[in-house]
Amino acid sequence: MNASSKLQHTVGQAFQPDPTASRFGASLPVRPAQSAFDAGLPTLPHSRPRVSPREERKSSAGPTPKRHRFHALCPYFAMFPEHFAETWIDRLTKPGDVVLDPFCGRGTTPFQAILMGREAIGCDINPVAWCVSQSKTNPPTLAAIRRRVTMLEAEFRPKDWESQRRQLPKFFRYAYEPATLRQLLYLRGRLRWRRSKTDCMIAALILGSLHGESNRSSMYLSTHMPHTISTKPAYSVRFWRERGFRPPHRDVFDHIRRMAEFRYESEPVQGRAVIHELDMRELPSVLRGFPPIRCVVTSPPYFDVTNFEEDQWLRLWFLGGPPYATTRRISRDDRHSDADKYWLFIADMWRVFGHILAPEANVVIRFGAIRSTPDEMLRMLTASAAFSGRKVHLVNFDISALKGRQTDAFRPGSRGCRVEIDCWFVVR
Ligand SMILES: C[S@@+](CC[C@H](N)C(=O)[O-])C[C@H]1O[C@@H](n2cnc3c(N)ncnc32)[C@H](O)[C@@H]1O
Repeated sequence: MNASSKLQHTVGQAFQPDPTASRFGASLPVRPAQSAFDAGLPTLPHSRPRVSPREERKSSAGPTPKRHRFHALCPYFAMFPEHFAETWIDRLTKPGDVVLDPFCGRGTTPFQAILMGREAIGCDINPVAWCVSQSKTNPPTLAAIRRRVTMLEAEFRPKDWESQRRQLPKFFRYAYEPATLRQLLYLRGRLRWRRSKTDCMIAALILGSLHGESNRSSMYLSTHMPHTISTKPAYSVRFWRERGFRPPHRDVFDHIRRMAEFRYESEPVQGRAVIHELDMRELPSVLRGFPPIRCVVTSPPYFDVTNFEEDQWLRLWFLGGPPYATTRRISRDDRHSDADKYWLFIADMWRVFGHILAPEANVVIRFGAIRSTPDEMLRMLTASAAFSGRKVHLVNFDISALKGRQTDAFRPGSRGCRVEIDCWFVVR
């Protein structure tokens, strides 16, 4: 029996539809079920009545609280909105608890957790995700950013970067004005973003502006591109030439100052957050000595939807990567098109949870797919929980069709995620 049929086999044995699991919300009748709230599972004193985060948002009365400006520091494909993390952290944890996101992307969960007085652990294998999450959760002061930018600017000699600029692939000449590109090359070479929190924040501010809809907003440095993903070089150049798009005039130093002033209109948050740049399979070896983790709010790569490494290639270039798109150099799990391999990867996630979670820990997972049915996805996710080696109980779930997919904005009709599923488990 090969590994994948072993998983199918194990899954087949492990999966028993859970009579206490129900779908969130009254309008979504699926299983003849009771929710765990009704079934008397332990709930925290501040738990609210059963309602899905989506519905909660629609129905919440009163003025929306001001959004913290760090949340949108840098967009990220397949990011979840902060109200998703907020609702679950509020419902399932109390101040001081440790919240984990092993696939933290732009850091929505760890940042929201420290905003709410919790401790946070984030992990992501992609350096873009690490840089953005780290900068939000361990920010420098605004004064430190101002000082560092002044110093960097004073030491910049444009002519030192001209020959490197000329050697870059054609894409870069179409994407950036020469003066902007020389500054970017200089900052790419100078910023010690893994070692200094000031440089990390400056790098994250640049990542957030590196590409985007510059025909509509002055916050982007490139010729018109989507802000969530970096389109491929040949496609982009063709797109720009056909439409006569030209790079905007931008001074990167001024730009960083402007972006920093804007983001720091929200108070930076002080809290304990550790962000690991790691394959989540390695988490058990780095978490020794941490308080027990009682809550996970996460979203693993969706099944066959996107490749984060390839789709973030320009941001990865700025962080020191090659000037073209790569796949599978950073992560082997970004886009599984083979269902068996995908579920083995998810089984690894459960194995890690089995090692690192406290008894009675809550795990909230949002995931999705293009070409699998929600029932199949839910069945496999629930069954693969057997690999945790613990008793896992599916408390609740919610399935929703996706509208306004992120890829539609630039490439209408492109393949994106069609359905999302939110699941809440208790790991005993
Ligand atoms: C759906 S995104 C998470 C988005 C995140 N919830 C947010 O709001 O930004 C999935 C993330 O998993 C990361 N990833 C893929 N394989 C991984 C692995 N083996 N270990 C850790 N992270 C991984 C990707 O780099 C990507 O950032």
